[in-house]
Amino acid sequence: MFYSISRIAAATFSLAAIIVCSPLEFGPSDLFQRANPTFTRGLNKHIFDPPASWASWRVVYHRAVQLNDGTLLSSWENYAPEPPLEAAPIWRSTDGGKTYANFSQVKDQVNGWGMRYQPFLYVLPQAFAGLKAGDLLFAGNSVPSDLSKTKIDVYSSTDGGLTWSFLSSVATGGRASASNGQTPIWEPFLQLYNGQIICFYSDQRDPKHGQKLTHQTTTDLKTWTANVDDVADPDYNARPGMTTVVQIGSGNWIMTYENCGPGNCQVHVKVASNPLIFGTISGYPLQASDGTIPYGSPFVTWVYNGGVNGTLLVNGNSDSYLYTNTQLGVPGTPWERINAGTDQAYSRCLHPLGDYDSLIIAGAGNFQTGTYANNVTYSIVSLSGLGI
Ligand SMILES: *[C@@H]1O[C@H](CO)[C@@H](O)[C@H](O)[C@H]1NC(C)=O
Ligand SMILES: *[C@@H]1O[C@H](CO)[C@@H](O)[C@H](O)[C@H]1NC(C)=O
Ligand SMILES: *[C@@H]1O[C@H](CO)[C@@H](O)[C@H](O)[C@H]1NC(C)=O
Repeated sequence: MFYSISRIAAATFSLAAIIVCSPLEFGPSDLFQRANPTFTRGLNKHIFDPPASWASWRVVYHRAVQLNDGTLLSSWENYAPEPPLEAAPIWRSTDGGKTYANFSQVKDQVNGWGMRYQPFLYVLPQAFAGLKAGDLLFAGNSVPSDLSKTKIDVYSSTDGGLTWSFLSSVATGGRASASNGQTPIWEPFLQLYNGQIICFYSDQRDPKHGQKLTHQTTTDLKTWTANVDDVADPDYNARPGMTTVVQIGSGNWIMTYENCGPGNCQVHVKVASNPLIFGTISGYPLQASDGTIPYGSPFVTWVYNGGVNGTLLVNGNSDSYLYTNTQLGVPGTPWERINAGTDQAYSRCLHPLGDYDSLIIAGAGNFQTGTYANNVTYSIVSLSGLGI
């Protein structure tokens, strides 16, 4: 019952958005084109518990998406012993998140290095460059075993994530070290906008900035434009990082990022009329109305739920909560802090699902080792159940 009301409200809202504002071109992963399966709600369920023999924190950095037929896919960083070279795992749920199984892998097909860090999955909301609506893009950081290089490569899948084809390389950087003065690139995030795929990423190659945030675009998934900065602090020691982006109901675009270095990784927000001009907009630090400041590895999404403006959802690494805003993220408007009951994790992914009430929150622990080493977990929460 709630779902159908929610769907009507969402459809009405979208129509209003198309007539009154600029159209909500693709929305948060394009809910309207999706099937409406039933999702199994649950907190902190495990997809995969890595063996104790795996290196470092064993797994981290979980990304989740819903395909148009309701299938859920997940990927994350594995720290399995090599050989074979690391590959990005793809696990799949075809029963609405009740169970997951190992489905496939995105292997590095071009560098001989492995597909090691920061996997990102994107479902195309419309046909693009020879791919169909619903086909998948994957971006990841291909890094050799000695961590001496970084390279953001893009792959596609036309069979729901079973097989993957290399498309192109966005950019190449130096050693995978987060120290200032090293020159790696990190953390790709893909978004379709106005006939282009944008690849946002973190960039340590510019000698004027310990790290900055930048993007490149492509119209054919083969060649990419020169990079344009989104956040580049005049203070060399500032390390803005971890871009995520979503379009909201007003037609505007929201970018979140962490501002590390002297800024202690406080989560920041930018609001722009299009996602190519974040570099011209000032970001503001997110602080909840209860005074809490989230820090580290934010992720943003937007849902139709929660009133005429829908609701922005952001998280950070410093706690397990969600930070919500029902006023389109406008600077100075309140952010509320909500306990969704899920575990805290580094760079948790927030992905709204096609029943218009469920949100998958995907985590895989933190940079910790030993008895506390990570598992790959997910929660599927009800937004209405959280008062959203
Ligand atoms: C998952 O399946 C792939 C083959 O697609 C295999 O190489 C990998 O070892 C499997 N992962 C686990 C944890 O079993
Ligand atoms: C929607 O957002 C606008 C812009 O922040 C704000 O003025 C308005 O009050 C919001 N509406 C509601 C119902 O919160
Ligand atoms: C991961 O799961 C295992 C059980 O497979 C459990 O013993 C361990 O405590 C879990 N780790 C965390 C951090 O919860």
